[in-house]
Amino acid sequence: MAKIQQTFVCQSCGAVYNRWRGRCEACNGWNTIVEEIAGGPGQAGPAATRPARARGRVFPLEGLTGEAKQAPRTPSGIAELDRVTGGGFVRGSVILLGGDPGIGKSTLLMQASAAMAATGERVAYISGEEAVGQVRLRAERLGLAKHPVELAAETNVEDIVETLSQGKPPALAIIDSIQTMWTETVESAPGTVTQVRSSAQALIRFAKTTGTAVILVGHVTKDGQIAGPRVVEHMVDAVASFEGDQGHHFRILRAVKNRFGPTDEIGVFEMTDAGLAEVPNPSALFLAARDHQAAGTAVFAGMEGTRPLLVEIQALVAPSALGMPRRAVVGWDPNRLSMVLAVLEAHGGIRLSGHDVYLNVAGGLRITEPAADLAVAAALVSSLSGAALPPETVYFGEIGLSGAIRPVAQGAARLKEAQKLGFAKALMPQGRETADRALATESLRHIADLVAGIAASGPKRGRRSNAPRYEEAD
Ligand code: TYD
Ligand code: MG
Repeated sequence: MAKIQQTFVCQSCGAVYNRWRGRCEACNGWNTIVEEIAGGPGQAGPAATRPARARGRVFPLEGLTGEAKQAPRTPSGIAELDRVTGGGFVRGSVILLGGDPGIGKSTLLMQASAAMAATGERVAYISGEEAVGQVRLRAERLGLAKHPVELAAETNVEDIVETLSQGKPPALAIIDSIQTMWTETVESAPGTVTQVRSSAQALIRFAKTTGTAVILVGHVTKDGQIAGPRVVEHMVDAVASFEGDQGHHFRILRAVKNRFGPTDEIGVFEMTDAGLAEVPNPSALFLAARDHQAAGTAVFAGMEGTRPLLVEIQALVAPSALGMPRRAVVGWDPNRLSMVLAVLEAHGGIRLSGHDVYLNVAGGLRITEPAADLAVAAALVSSLSGAALPPETVYFGEIGLSGAIRPVAQGAARLKEAQKLGFAKALMPQGRETADRALATESLRHIADLVAGIAASGPKRGRRSNAPRYEEAD
């Protein structure tokens, strides 16, 4: 019997200490360290009970059969989900699905379970948060009640593994959520780092030995009270996050880590009365509520993974009454905005230091691409000058610190999407990409070209008090 040992574990990052302290030195979190009892019956791990013959066996790398190389996958039946996983769930893989509480994780997984069960696969949905009746009620509301998904309300990992091991192993098992699970091998309370980690370990072992694909749901919490799913990120095969803001109805599934597929793909869903609906053409959705006449908006031709995505960038530049003007950004990197503002001042001949600047990516989308620089700059200049940009134009290109417009990847796909959605013109870096005749392209070399182009179109409407103050660019 192992010695019971007291340890103090940070609930947000998992750092271990041998005495309590107010602040975690690893993640700088205050009051996140909680006493946990490590040791206990199973802590020595499975190695202690494993037969000696299984230890340390080696296998040749080239011995893989064709099937193993292909990483056999089971499609979920939901195209947007399969896009993110890379074509379906890989046998024996473990996916961690993180997201804010209430964002729609359970809904998405219930729909995925039903879709997969409908194809004749054995699927188990284990809820540690809701009673079977509640889960069934939700399934009924989603119109999925007739699908043969096995439901259980259970939080003990040993019981879950026991139940799932009876009969043919399921193709997919959903654990909702990992924070509610507990294993007998450790004595800490459910939700603590040690419990989350040990439970995840047991479930991962189950997945690897039976070939069942397991999805662990993890709530991301901002305070350190419940162990964040971050502590199991390194143990699982794939990490996906379900994002969106409560004020908007669309939700984005993003792969953060994926051992068996791409990490830059997104799946777009819309939350409706009847659950999550797939959005096969997100550009149309993100541009739906666009105000064509407003100054300060530019359409960015972006890419999310292999998929082009057009989004509206909105800027508001207004004279500031503050000594330190405000810069507020939603959906983009604030440091990148500071950089674009500095380049516009230094090389575009525009004074923005006396103005508050607000930037918003419409629809609650979060953009990480530097290719959005040009669209951001266009929206900023447009807002400052009060000149609305031509509504049928898209922008993309990275801006360098010298003011040069630099080429970006996948120009052709961006142009194709713009053309598909009825845009007539693209302002872009110099490059080899050409579009069909239906879409005119204009190559920009320097940020000053962009400013000059917008200034030439003149303020069509807007606040005169906020008229442009261009300087001679030399
Ligand atoms: P849920 O899947 O329970 O979130 P999570 O598991 O991530 O905590 O989703 C809860 C939210 O989704 C809730 O606020 C209501 C909304 N919702 C709908 O709008 N339509 C639906 O059909 C369903 C099932 C939920
Ligand atoms: Mg839930």
